[in-house]
Amino acid sequence: MSQTLAILGLESSCDDTAAAVVRAGGQGGAEILSSIVTGQGDLHAAFGGIVPEIAARAHAERLDLCAEAALERAGLDLSDINAVAVTAGPGLIGGVMAGVMCAKGIAAGAGLPLIGVNHLAGHALTPRLTDGLGFPYLVLLVSGGHCQFLQVEGPESFRRLGGTIDDAPGEAFDKTARLLGLPQPGGPAVEAEAAGGDPRRFAFPRPLLDRAGCDMSFSGLKTALRRARDELTVARGGITRTDRADLCAGFQAAVRDVLAEKARRALAATGAPAFAVAGGVAANRAIRAALETVAGAAGARFIAPPLALCTDNAAMIAWAGYERFRLGRRDGLDLRPRPRWPLDARSPAMLGAGKRGVKA
Ligand code: KG4
Ligand code: ZN
Repeated sequence: MSQTLAILGLESSCDDTAAAVVRAGGQGGAEILSSIVTGQGDLHAAFGGIVPEIAARAHAERLDLCAEAALERAGLDLSDINAVAVTAGPGLIGGVMAGVMCAKGIAAGAGLPLIGVNHLAGHALTPRLTDGLGFPYLVLLVSGGHCQFLQVEGPESFRRLGGTIDDAPGEAFDKTARLLGLPQPGGPAVEAEAAGGDPRRFAFPRPLLDRAGCDMSFSGLKTALRRARDELTVARGGITRTDRADLCAGFQAAVRDVLAEKARRALAATGAPAFAVAGGVAANRAIRAALETVAGAAGARFIAPPLALCTDNAAMIAWAGYERFRLGRRDGLDLRPRPRWPLDARSPAMLGAGKRGVKA
């Protein structure tokens, strides 16, 4: 395709309202002309977690403003846009509905093609947007709501090798932070504490390493951490700064070891020439370094997209929309928002995978 296309993407499946414009096709690579992400942390802070109804209402109020801002920053108006791509699932259904309704309105009003995108496909295809990666490759989606290994064989062809059977790692980091009185989101806070701690002081479990395959479990780890904290509290009336640093270091090392060993198995099983990570937890330096080492040992190229494109954003949705558009896919105004939407329909659904809605 020699002509370039400008795609407007919308994302609202969790607690970030996002819009972006991506130009793709032609001779050059893809270009992100704008990417606006508006978080909702302030709206949910008092509740200790995301309240789906509050999230949905905020998305409905902000999506069109976000789309306008993305167009303005890209220096384009709707007449320059070739298609509208929107996250149609999986995710918190109220937010997904708000996004799909907004995209339908824009597409119908401007006479543009509409393309529904699977949010997980957006994450999984991001290394193609950032690095022009060719198929096939292995990707680990690891965030507050996702944790799965996928072999990516084409824009619509994904094979899941395994995933968490309970909590997602980001969720476990967030709970750990809460247990230790650290701020949210927990990942960066736990990582900072862990830097000064002794990872060997507490013998935390490495769940499911004794079981073949690439499935993972992180909820037992959180329970072990709580027990260790409670034992210290009973014995000494509280935990010291050193205790806290050691607990964080031990916890992070356990998550790192599980992800690294399962990644080693996934690479061995697929022989993938490249291994990419996506999701907020990929920001963790210890985890990232361990995954890079595993990729190197397997002779696979390692790709970690910039953090802003690892976490939820609409540029990945615009890109995934472009990939579908190129295949001739179009959705009608009957496009249905889906709370669950497994990328690999051949694999059984993974229930309980993450507080932010079952990501399948
Ligand atoms: O991808 P993301 O922005 O949102 C979804 O969950 O979809 O990921 C957010 C998650 C949070 O749970 C956060 O604690 C975690 O990623 N996270 C980290 C780090 N930075 C963010 N976990 C570990 N280490 C970090 N440095
Ligand atoms: Zn996501």
